[in-house]
Amino acid sequence: VNSVDHQLIELHELAAKLYHHILVNTQAGATALSYLKQRGLSAEIINDFGIGFAPPQRLLLPFFHERQTDADLLQQTGLFSQNQQGELYDRFVDRIMFPIKNGSGQVIAFSGRLLSTENTDMPKYLNSPETKLFNKRRVLFNFDIARKAARREQKLILFEGFMDVIAAYRAGVTNGIASMGTSLTEEQVSMIERVTSNLDVCYDGDQAGQNATKRALEMIQGQTTNVQLEVVSMPAGIDPDEYLQQYGAEKFKQWLMDARQTPVAFSLRHLKQGLNLENEADQINYLNAALQIIAGVPNEIEQDVYVNQLVSEFKLDKANLTSQLRELTRQRD
Ligand code: GTP
Ligand code: MN
Ligand code: MN
Ligand code: MN
Ligand code: MN
Repeated sequence: VNSVDHQLIELHELAAKLYHHILVNTQAGATALSYLKQRGLSAEIINDFGIGFAPPQRLLLPFFHERQTDADLLQQTGLFSQNQQGELYDRFVDRIMFPIKNGSGQVIAFSGRLLSTENTDMPKYLNSPETKLFNKRRVLFNFDIARKAARREQKLILFEGFMDVIAAYRAGVTNGIASMGTSLTEEQVSMIERVTSNLDVCYDGDQAGQNATKRALEMIQGQTTNVQLEVVSMPAGIDPDEYLQQYGAEKFKQWLMDARQTPVAFSLRHLKQGLNLENEADQINYLNAALQIIAGVPNEIEQDVYVNQLVSEFKLDKANLTSQLRELTRQRD
């Protein structure tokens, strides 16, 4: 780490401490603190993740001016925006602040969440811009903690949001990670691959989450064969954090264990969405697409498991399905 990087990290660490202090010790943070408590975050969790609050008033700029921090350096942090007169002002205002850390646990960026998303067209989460320290393609939330936990658990769990990672942590599941609100990147897959050969994908139970799961699976499978994938599907419409809130830590952990599916089982279920399987045309489309997916499975025993499911689900003749599958497998080879 060169000296500019070092200084930029130091400024981020200071900013994180200040945001955290505002949240936990001052009147300015009281509303944000009660919001977080109401979402189930204890003082201990708020401390572990270094969560803070950027108040509506100016905070960082006067603080760093007082310390006579170099203006050029301040600009490089991404913690400030510039008005038309070229003056800096705090980028994060009236937001709950989540420090984003590098693999060594040093603060390199922030993501700030609005307390309320009603009556505003501002983004719910605002991230630091790309800086010398922060390339969002190369960062996974909680990676510094999760990679240690993965040595013990022999896997990582990929969630969609920071609050899901924090929810898992609250339940004692500390090997959770999340991308920066964007699709998974090649760089992130490489980071994962260096830590473990097992990844569970546990995105939100809404349509967007399920579609994102499909894309993540395809993306990972296109890049590496060294990561064994499983999918944990949430109940329809809720995310892992909401599941924990509703059902508690024990049920949450049980769900993570029991709701795991192979990528193929997930894909078959995903394929069904939007189809009416009472309708013959939809049914035939489904079966053809399902056989295509099954034909891509290298292991014949696994193929047989899925064929048997189709046979019993649709009361089909197994010999017919099997010969159709052989035909599709031949075409792929
Ligand atoms: P909560 O509402 O706080 O529980 O967050 P969530 O994680 O459930 O949010 P959601 O499922 O809507 O989005 C998942 C992730 O996408 C978030 O954790 C963010 O990282 C990211 N995200 C959501 N909204 C925005 C946004 O407006 N801007 C950006 N940059 N990222 C967002
Ligand atoms: Mn959303
Ligand atoms: Mn979502
Ligand atoms: Mn969510
Ligand atoms: Mn959520």
